[in-house]
Amino acid sequence: MTKDLCFTVNKDKCTKCGLCVRDCIAHVISQDKDGYPYAKNELACIGCQHCLAICPNAAISIFDKNPDLSDSISNFPSSIDMENLIKARRSCRKFKQENVSKETLDKLKNILNWTPTGVNFKDLHFAIVENKDTMVEIKEILYKKLKKILKFVPAKGHIASLKRAVLSDEDVIFRNAPHMIVVSVNKKAPCKEIDPIIALSYFELYAQTLGIGTLWCGYAYNTMPLSREVMHKFNIPKTHKLAYVMLFGYPDVKYKRTIQPESCNITVI
Ligand SMILES: Cc1cc2nc3c(=O)[nH]c(=O)nc-3n(C[C@H](O)[C@H](O)[C@H](O)COP(=O)(O)O)c2cc1C
Repeated sequence: MTKDLCFTVNKDKCTKCGLCVRDCIAHVISQDKDGYPYAKNELACIGCQHCLAICPNAAISIFDKNPDLSDSISNFPSSIDMENLIKARRSCRKFKQENVSKETLDKLKNILNWTPTGVNFKDLHFAIVENKDTMVEIKEILYKKLKKILKFVPAKGHIASLKRAVLSDEDVIFRNAPHMIVVSVNKKAPCKEIDPIIALSYFELYAQTLGIGTLWCGYAYNTMPLSREVMHKFNIPKTHKLAYVMLFGYPDVKYKRTIQPESCNITVI
């Protein structure tokens, strides 16, 4: 890691327990002759901050972070709450035509800082359409382009229904959602296929707890690159590529019960 570690130990608080040394995946930390931890191998650090998180006495600081400013870990949702959340989540295709409040948008944005990435390579980029009028602008550009293209595309399978819908001005791509989040990923990220999907999965589940409906949108993901004008709006860094798209907003639909999925295939070894 090239960033300066600024690894410091508060010797008044440190009990020399060695937990930070043991939990350092990259073997960056060692104990000096008096037993206090120090960073011996700064370049190997992946920046996970486990050392700061594990210290029982908040004695470790890294990257100039004050450990006393971390949230304490006590309030886990119950397994029943989590199970209900996962089971009750549905794809939302009917949204209220209003903007999500700024407070809720801020909460959703904040949660994006918390998603894990392979080798802790944190280089996702998120573009969030925060205003429903901007969604309308984006749709106008894209549908104009799509209509021209689709006229020449042979209508087979799901393309046939897409073509029919687009040509009759039905918003089958964006489902009249007032917002969307577009995630792109550094092409050099070690886990570039997975990291963006984890981020959106976290985003989606958290969104449900705030009363926000979401829709993974393969249609938007596949069609938006057809318009350079639309893609330009997302300010995707040159180092990055589009990874996926999720629509969201206040749902205008309410489900009364869970579905009853078939059992998935699990091989027990
Ligand atoms: C990767 C992915 C892409 C999807 N793309 C679309 C899409 O473009 N349009 C759409 O209406 N639904 C889309 N869906 C929603 C699925 O159709 C939906 O998850 C599935 O029918 C199950 O319904 P549920 O999410 O309510 O359980 C997508 C879902 C996933 C996971």
